[in-house]
Amino acid sequence: MKTNGLLKNSRPQNGVLLASLFLLFLFTMNSRAADVDALLTRMTLEEKIGMLHGRADPDPALGLNGAGYVQGVPRLNIPPLRLADGPAGIRTRLPATALPAPIALAASFDADLAFRYGASIGREGLARHQNVLLSPMVNIVRVPQAGRNFETLGEDPHLAAVMVGAEIKGIQEQGLMATVKHFIANNQEDNRFAVDTTIDERTLREIYLPGFEAAVKAGVAAVMCAYNSINATFACENDALLNTVLRQEYGFKGFVMTDWWAVHSLNALTQGLNLEMPGYEIPAYSQPVYFQEPLLQAVRSGAIAESAVDQALRPILVQMERFGLLDAALPEPQMDEQAHAAVALESAIKGAVLLKNRDRALPLREEQLDKLLVLGPTASHTLVGGGGSSRVLPLRRDSSLDELRRLGGGEGLHYLPGVELDGQAIPARFLSWAGESGLLRYQGRSPADSTTAPRRDAQLVFTGEQALSGAEAWTWTGQLQVPASGSYELKIQTRGGSGRLYLDDEMLAFSDEGVLSQASLIPTRDGLRNDGASRELVAGRSYQLRVEARAQNPDAKLEIRLSWLTPEQKKAGLEQVQAQAQTASAVVVFAYVEGTEGGDRRSLALPGYQDELIETVTASARGPVIVVLNVGAPVTMPWADAADAILQMWYPGQEGGKATAALLLGHENPSGKLPVTFPHSEQDLPTPATIQYPGVGNRQQYSEGLFVGYRWYDEMHIEPLFPFGHGLSYSRFEYSDLDVESSPDQGLRVSFTLRNDSERAGVETPQLYLTQTGSQTLVLVPQKLVGFVKVPLAAGETRRLTLEVAPRAFQWWNPAHSAWETVPGPGILTIGASSRELRLSAVLDPAP
Ligand code: BGC
Repeated sequence: MKTNGLLKNSRPQNGVLLASLFLLFLFTMNSRAADVDALLTRMTLEEKIGMLHGRADPDPALGLNGAGYVQGVPRLNIPPLRLADGPAGIRTRLPATALPAPIALAASFDADLAFRYGASIGREGLARHQNVLLSPMVNIVRVPQAGRNFETLGEDPHLAAVMVGAEIKGIQEQGLMATVKHFIANNQEDNRFAVDTTIDERTLREIYLPGFEAAVKAGVAAVMCAYNSINATFACENDALLNTVLRQEYGFKGFVMTDWWAVHSLNALTQGLNLEMPGYEIPAYSQPVYFQEPLLQAVRSGAIAESAVDQALRPILVQMERFGLLDAALPEPQMDEQAHAAVALESAIKGAVLLKNRDRALPLREEQLDKLLVLGPTASHTLVGGGGSSRVLPLRRDSSLDELRRLGGGEGLHYLPGVELDGQAIPARFLSWAGESGLLRYQGRSPADSTTAPRRDAQLVFTGEQALSGAEAWTWTGQLQVPASGSYELKIQTRGGSGRLYLDDEMLAFSDEGVLSQASLIPTRDGLRNDGASRELVAGRSYQLRVEARAQNPDAKLEIRLSWLTPEQKKAGLEQVQAQAQTASAVVVFAYVEGTEGGDRRSLALPGYQDELIETVTASARGPVIVVLNVGAPVTMPWADAADAILQMWYPGQEGGKATAALLLGHENPSGKLPVTFPHSEQDLPTPATIQYPGVGNRQQYSEGLFVGYRWYDEMHIEPLFPFGHGLSYSRFEYSDLDVESSPDQGLRVSFTLRNDSERAGVETPQLYLTQTGSQTLVLVPQKLVGFVKVPLAAGETRRLTLEVAPRAFQWWNPAHSAWETVPGPGILTIGASSRELRLSAVLDPAP
């Protein structure tokens, strides 16, 4: 890679220091390489290939199973590797500290916190006997629908890069290897295994790669390649990206592992892949394992040289050596539950974003607690995190409702779910088979395969004492009639197994236990998993109903219930809310979206009838209405004008209840800023064409180019609902006296004064944006984030602050020269409280 000359002129004393550090680095790397080479000569081909793919963990007894396991070579004292997710805490079968979702960490704009967030996962990973953490995820939020947006660090490359670097250092300084994922252009869940992304090189370099580049700079041990392909080459066999960009240009010395079942050929071995995961076949994926028998045969037949196997294995061993795994005994840290709970709490507080606060509706006043109405399922059951592989079994889970009660909301505090997720078991009189009430139950793989005579069940309710046991499967069939025409929610609820609900042969709902289960993360009040769907049903018609169920394993008991929410029940619930809102001093409504791996959202609206609930409340409440959002990505808010305050808590982790209550009551002061733009509507998104998102067939084009996130809204002059970088505080901050000077590294040094102009201590996050105006020919974004700082200020305190802007900020990637080059001409630097609330500016003429 060429540099533009700016980078060559660093100060001499820095140069000497850097040179010595570089020599030390080379020496350490060389001695490592020597040890590893010696080891490689002693390994058989089978032993080497045995370390290039994963397998099932042979030692499940301790409950330490994470997501992956790579066997070692005991005769050479090479230990196995255990790999565990993930981004919001360590996921094994044992509980761990569930931190707020990474998007909340990004919203903190706090690199020191990112380090501590990483450090607590790192420590717990070691305490759970893991060696490799499958985190952080630094894929840019390109579309708000993407199911895993909550696992990422937002839509801006600079923010993501700063946060990911700090987090990786935090993880790895504890002794756990970090894995940055998913390399690259894995920006949606729909069709993630097959989609091919057409993306131009400049966009790749300026938007999607900086997070990964920062991870390499921070010394990340591993990179996980993505499922998708980029410009027609699968990510896991992409020589240009894995070997040229990652290794040669960025200097990556670690290993590349596949995402689970993401390898497509043996070729991958020479195209930059080191490790195939999970390395065994499962019936659900018809994916063969390549780096096993096929690789062995290929080497034996001479089709692949053994040196290629050595080359793939070397970085894995080098990293094992670097992290002390080839040494005798490693210290075993303990879980420091209290310290990590404190990090979880701090992250939830610092990541919270106060989106709106009309007439200082927040913080709530003491006297309002006496007649407070709290609504919403996530008030009583904290939505700790999103769904999928990042889902942690929390050490504990508090609730906002309990915390509000504990902090003063006594007898007068009322709680209603507001939206009824449980429903009620469908009564026998609406179920029938052959003209008689109830459903027919078969035991066996299917009715035709029933092992016992079918029997009639009045209702489908087998919970608690009535749980079903046995190694077989069950099928219920019959007809459903409804008492009145209208919209019904039909639900299947299970524990200890799975249940599928079909209406007229269409599968409506599937509730099961697995990590990738699409069932609700919010259990029923009696702890069952819950999945359902709404359908317009007509009175007088008969609908064919079928439920298929099985226990998780032959020894498990299955609890299962078939429920519904009728239009009358829903109406009665909303009327009750309305009546209570009329007399409450204030109403706090918790609203949620369950983001999850494996699928995107079909709509940006809150699911179910939550919008209707909030609109009912804003229309009837006597006092202020405060909406607390537990969402991991943007939602539309048709009620935004009517609500008095909106507090975005994301998925706030196991201490989320405490954090939410403390912020609502003003014991803590919000300071988070949006790491993603919230649009007014789906029509405003940067990806209007289907070929952009979700793609046509298996093809997709990132034709919006650099105009991702706020860059799009700024370019198109679209007013977002809440812009990137936005976040209010209970304090007020004043900006003044902007000074810009050159910095010794040929970047810029920007100084300004920040004053807390209020009576309470608070934290502000000044953001620095660069606009480059000089070029007639080059496509340039209207502005981009180039710096930020998180500043705590006491009431009335004033501080002079300085931010450094690196030379790269002024450059663009010129694909014709394959090089970063300085954008010619003048520029403007602005600093402010969000991308749309800019307070001070300075003209740079010319840019450095
Ligand atoms: C996910 C990865 C995860 C892996 C192991 C995959 O489905 O995409 O992010 O690390 O599973 O759980």
